[in-house]
Amino acid sequence: MSEDAALAAARQRIADYRQRIDSLDQDARDLLFSEARNHNWWQDRKVSDDQLREIYDLFKFAPTSQNTQTARIVFVRSPEAKARLVPTLNEPNREKTDLAPATAIIAHDPKFYEDFAKVYPIRPEAGQRFVDNPDMADDFAFHMASMQGAYFILAVRAVGLDAGAMLGFDKAKVNDEFFSDSGLKVNFLCNIGYGDLEGIKGPRLYRYDFDEVCEII
Ligand SMILES: Cc1cc2nc3c(=O)[nH]c(=O)nc-3n(C[C@H](O)[C@H](O)[C@H](O)COP(=O)(O)O)c2cc1C
Repeated sequence: MSEDAALAAARQRIADYRQRIDSLDQDARDLLFSEARNHNWWQDRKVSDDQLREIYDLFKFAPTSQNTQTARIVFVRSPEAKARLVPTLNEPNREKTDLAPATAIIAHDPKFYEDFAKVYPIRPEAGQRFVDNPDMADDFAFHMASMQGAYFILAVRAVGLDAGAMLGFDKAKVNDEFFSDSGLKVNFLCNIGYGDLEGIKGPRLYRYDFDEVCEII
């Protein structure tokens, strides 16, 4: 396909889906945001490989700067892998993580720029600025992976599962245990499954009103 034809096809795709849908209805908004809660206890229902792939195949489309996609994800599901992860957690996060059908380790790849030509072929040379700047590369990769981590939680919810994000763990221990060869660095952990309401210990906590934290200038 010529470049012009590819551009026309890309624009047509956008026009087509915009004709089908212009916004999420209230149920979809509730599922993703307004009623969704961070889950702390889990029903005894498995999460399949296909479901984890379904999450990934939504998550991957959300945007990152220069399409860098710096996040890397390890889905911890086997009892052996769980036994490596659970001791790295703060005590209050251990039992629920042991019980969760799967736990995603959301990490970033500080060497993401080695793939620049593949993910951003329109300006492959832009990756060069990271080559001799490991601190900048690490900071950038962490930033993008944090954004992707938020998209990840929403993708979990979008496929009908519940998410339980956690920062209460020892980052150095997770990195040693899972990433000593690859050099990846953990950002946060996310339990995935069908939430058990026993784990919801109270009503929704306060959320700021628009006027408290936003301004329109
Ligand atoms: C990145 C991140 C890290 C979190 N870390 C923990 C954690 O370590 N342990 C925990 O019980 N909850 C953790 N939470 C859950 C939050 O405390 C929870 O989402 C927040 O209080 C709002 O609750 P709600 O989502 O049910 O409204 C974390 C949430 C996020 C997004």
